[in-house]
Amino acid sequence: MVKPIEAIMIGAGQRGSDIYGEYALRHPEQIHFVAVAEPNAERRLRFATQHNIPAENQFETWKPLLERPQFGQAAFVCTQDQQHTAPALAALRAGYDVLLEKPMATTADECCQLVDVAEETGRQLHICHVLRFTKHFTKMREIIQSGDLGEIINVSHRENVSWWHMAHSFVRGNWRRAADSAPMILAKCCHDLDILIWLMNQNCAQLSSMGNLMHYRPENAPEGAPKYCLDGCPVAETCPYYAPFIYVDLLPLWRNYADTAKGFPRIAAQAQERAPGLVKALSNLAPSLREISEYRGWPRSVVAQDPTPENLMDALRDGPYGRCVYHCDNDVVDHQVVSMKFARGASVTLTMHGHSHTEGRFTLIQGSRAELQAAFGYGGSWIEVNEHRSDLRTHYDTSADKASGHGGGDDRLMDAFINNLREDGAANFELASHLSAARQSLESHLMAFAAEEARLGDKVVCISGFRR
Ligand SMILES: NC(=O)c1ccc[n+]([C@@H]2O[C@H](COP(=O)([O-])OP(=O)(O)OC[C@H]3O[C@@H](n4cnc5c(N)ncnc54)[C@H](O)[C@@H]3O)[C@@H](O)[C@H]2O)c1
Repeated sequence: MVKPIEAIMIGAGQRGSDIYGEYALRHPEQIHFVAVAEPNAERRLRFATQHNIPAENQFETWKPLLERPQFGQAAFVCTQDQQHTAPALAALRAGYDVLLEKPMATTADECCQLVDVAEETGRQLHICHVLRFTKHFTKMREIIQSGDLGEIINVSHRENVSWWHMAHSFVRGNWRRAADSAPMILAKCCHDLDILIWLMNQNCAQLSSMGNLMHYRPENAPEGAPKYCLDGCPVAETCPYYAPFIYVDLLPLWRNYADTAKGFPRIAAQAQERAPGLVKALSNLAPSLREISEYRGWPRSVVAQDPTPENLMDALRDGPYGRCVYHCDNDVVDHQVVSMKFARGASVTLTMHGHSHTEGRFTLIQGSRAELQAAFGYGGSWIEVNEHRSDLRTHYDTSADKASGHGGGDDRLMDAFINNLREDGAANFELASHLSAARQSLESHLMAFAAEEARLGDKVVCISGFRR
């Protein structure tokens, strides 16, 4: 019998615990966490208990963990954006193969250093570009590579961040200030830039960019709006950003899910708005409904460790997620466009904004023989190809086979990482070889740094200037 891969967790937060830790609990034959570093005592203990990690293998921070003799083969680095480089470098040097959350780092120099050290040490370094592992983008790449679209002339890709996700992560939450986390084009769109290179199978040559923070600013606050929603806000009944509406009622999430789902999941998500009591009652007969009636996941799990309605309300009274969206200390953009020229001449635009009614990624590709349209949503995804000559229309359902984060990408990324470790890098990590994994991710990060320079300096930037 094959033994599970032994791994250490650095940063048992939302991603570390709820995504990768949770995968390990579902697949004990594949991976077992044997040590954890996490400063938050409650999170550390919860992770240690879930994974049976003995007290001597629990650490308050990554340094002492990585100074000990190597615990296992793999290290997961799931700390916040600005805390990736130091633990990832130390883990590579300590002999671990590393799965590092995106963005790999928040400066070009640090990204390059990570790639250098991975190549010097010969360890695997993979960045969590989950979109590469989705059925949706895998199918899109297959269609492009088949040549059915002909030559790719133009691509419009949209990262439509919903208004409530924007408010949660980029106005009230951890990614609201560029200096404390990263510019939004890096934090949110290194995935999209990476997927564009991967789909096109060529690099970007030059780009320009524009965008700013237009809406979530104090001058747009409704008259009399207090600092916290629960401090008697005069527009509590009508403001879409009213915090209990987003986190306790959770209606924006279920509406968003219903907009892109099909069949029973769609009906159930719609019913939650009209008859939450009925959904709760029916949960006894159909346990899958508990995923709605007793939902504890993102974004609730970020607001309160134990997200009961009472705990959520307590957290909203004076915590960061209860703040009026017009009275936060946010500075990242709420819309940005990147216009790119790719190596073989195609023009490509990426539009990212935080005001979408329904969250999702939309892609339109114009080829010399056919056009491709695609939508990647919370509840499901599809691709449609229209051939110029025959007028033939082909529709593909690219929804995830089972519900898992990022359209199935989170689970499939873990499957691929583990397979790759077992075969010591020889397996296909959706990439040519394990040594090129981090180097390929570097390209999208350099594009994001270039886009930020272009936006702030109002200029066209050649990517070659960012490559060494
Ligand atoms: N791949 C994706 O699609 C995706 C999606 C969301 C977030 N992310 C990225 O994942 C990373 C983690 O995000 P999150 O939402 O889980 O954040 P989080 O804040 O929930 O988790 C980070 C954890 O790191 C811990 N930590 C801080 N200092 C530490 C130290 N010295 N040693 C060990 N642990 C330490 C924190 O206490 C916290 O629990 C971020 O970089 C984020 O941008 C990636």
